Amino acid sequence: MSTPSHRKLAVVTGASAGIGAVYADRLAARGYDLLLIARRRDRLEEVARRIAAVHGREAEILVADLAEEADIAGVERDLAARGDIELIVNNAGIARFAPIAKAPASDSAAQIALNIGALTRLTHAVLPGFVARNRGTIVNIASILSLHTLPYSAVYSGTKAYVLAFSRGLQSELEGTAVKVQSVHPPATATDIWELAGVSLENFDPEKVMTTEDLVDAALAGLDRDEAITWPSVADEALWTAFDDARTAIVTASQTRKPAPRYAA
Ligand SMILES: NC(=O)c1ccc[n+]([C@@H]2O[C@H](COP(=O)([O-])OP(=O)(O)OC[C@H]3O[C@@H](n4cnc5c(N)ncnc54)[C@H](OP(=O)(O)O)[C@@H]3O)[C@@H](O)[C@H]2O)c1
Repeated sequence: MSTPSHRKLAVVTGASAGIGAVYADRLAARGYDLLLIARRRDRLEEVARRIAAVHGREAEILVADLAEEADIAGVERDLAARGDIELIVNNAGIARFAPIAKAPASDSAAQIALNIGALTRLTHAVLPGFVARNRGTIVNIASILSLHTLPYSAVYSGTKAYVLAFSRGLQSELEGTAVKVQSVHPPATATDIWELAGVSLENFDPEKVMTTEDLVDAALAGLDRDEAITWPSVADEALWTAFDDARTAIVTASQTRKPAPRYAA
């Protein structure tokens, strides 16, 4: 067993199921001890037991509702006080798919609190330590919907667009340091998130739904390649380059004091 001063500790939020549980497994296989965070104790214990049995790594569990102020504040304090975190996967997320006119505002607030609030606050908790040690990795789980909005995904897509923008901001702030930030953009992936969101996965063409294992293995391969932004299922890398070039062109074109001719009186 590793000693505290030598061990590599990875934190995974939303580690009780789906993509987070596979991250926990794959990181343990890479030699990390784990701190697993979610609300369901029994599921976390099951993941921790498997990690100990299969990989011989230590897996501590932290039961917390990251959308609740008292719980997230406690997790922030815990993470900020640890000096041994090497990597955090900000993975916990929910989707509530419904047109805004029909959805309760509480559903929107819950998505924003977890997908944006918790991810941001836990980044604040670990980043000063990472910067001080000039070491550490933040993996933020966004979505393909960071670039796309469906009639029922206005808030969810908005939260994932935030993850992309936030990650890019961090990447530019951290340029020249050894602290890494990766934004991961899964396509539809076979997890419980869909049923919980009110959409059956049975409505999807199975050929267009990734497995959690393929998703996480591709995302970690992207991390190994030092990718800042990873599109695990997109074969043609030039598509993102073209998209990003268009973004830069719009920003550059906006830098003039004159209204565009089409708005001239
Ligand atoms: N599956 C997809 O198609 C897909 C596509 C793009 C992006 N993503 C993103 O991938 C991430 C993981 O989602 P998933 O598909 O693996 O979904 P999932 O199977 O539903 O898992 C979500 C995880 O988040 C935890 N969680 C939910 N609410 C929480 C809360 N309030 N506090 C703490 N933990 C909470 C859940 O555990 P407890 O219930 O035990 O708390 C669970 O471990 C999310 O950020 C999601 O937006 C998924």
